[in-house]
Amino acid sequence: MVIHESCPGYPAEPFASLVASYPGQDAYAPSDFRVEWGPVFHRGRLDGSARVLLLGQDPAAHEAIARRILVGEAGQRAQGLLHKIGIASGYVMVNVYLYSVYGQAAGNRHVADEGITEYRNRWLDALLIDSGVTAVVAFGQLAERAFGLWAAARPEAAARLHLAAVKHPTYAEGAARGSGLPLAVTTARQLADWNAHLDGLRGAVVPDGDLDATPYGQTWSQTDLVEIPERDLPAGVPAWWRSLESWAVRAGADPEEKRATIRVAVPKGARPWPQP
Ligand code: URA
Repeated sequence: MVIHESCPGYPAEPFASLVASYPGQDAYAPSDFRVEWGPVFHRGRLDGSARVLLLGQDPAAHEAIARRILVGEAGQRAQGLLHKIGIASGYVMVNVYLYSVYGQAAGNRHVADEGITEYRNRWLDALLIDSGVTAVVAFGQLAERAFGLWAAARPEAAARLHLAAVKHPTYAEGAARGSGLPLAVTTARQLADWNAHLDGLRGAVVPDGDLDATPYGQTWSQTDLVEIPERDLPAGVPAWWRSLESWAVRAGADPEEKRATIRVAVPKGARPWPQP
């Protein structure tokens, strides 16, 4: 018999109360956030064993289905970064926003909104005050800003943490689109940035797994992306939800349909039925 691991969800306080009292359209305007897909709260350990907190931006298509954050390509890059600092299990991740941002400009506008910040800070209090977390990785400028808002309110707790404010896991794609620079150039820039933070992070966390000492190169290598562990997702989800394949995509002939639709397909390599 195969014994499967899974994420137990939010049975214990303070997380049980946090997921029972999340903000909706009162704080997150549907013009700027995809509230229709529901909030996605976290990924990783909520049992006090986390040593590093990763702060992402907002859930995308894969996360809307899996109900855990950072499980798509951005998540696999994040998982790879954890591997490079020797963290196999002791991590926890939350995003700046509970809901997917509808347009990057909207993301920039709301990072300090009161209703959004107050709830995010309750999560950060729960994860960072009197906890075993010694380092925070802020992915992108919004995450750095959000962490700064929390740190200003909790200077003593913040002072004992190592902060690595790194480029967002999908910075390269966004920067190439925005600037017209080749993707190879923006990718190399991102990886140089991540390399520059590895030593600081390694010095700030006690490893709990194998450490991949290979620095990032000019482009992503196969070992830089790591599969999402089974124990991070709700019970019974298919293994291909954690794979390196892309399996969820927003699809639709016009913006209305695209916002309303996520197309989920079993990747070719994960189809157990006889193939023609
Ligand atoms: N998915 C997330 O949950 N967060 C990000 O920042 C990117 C993708």
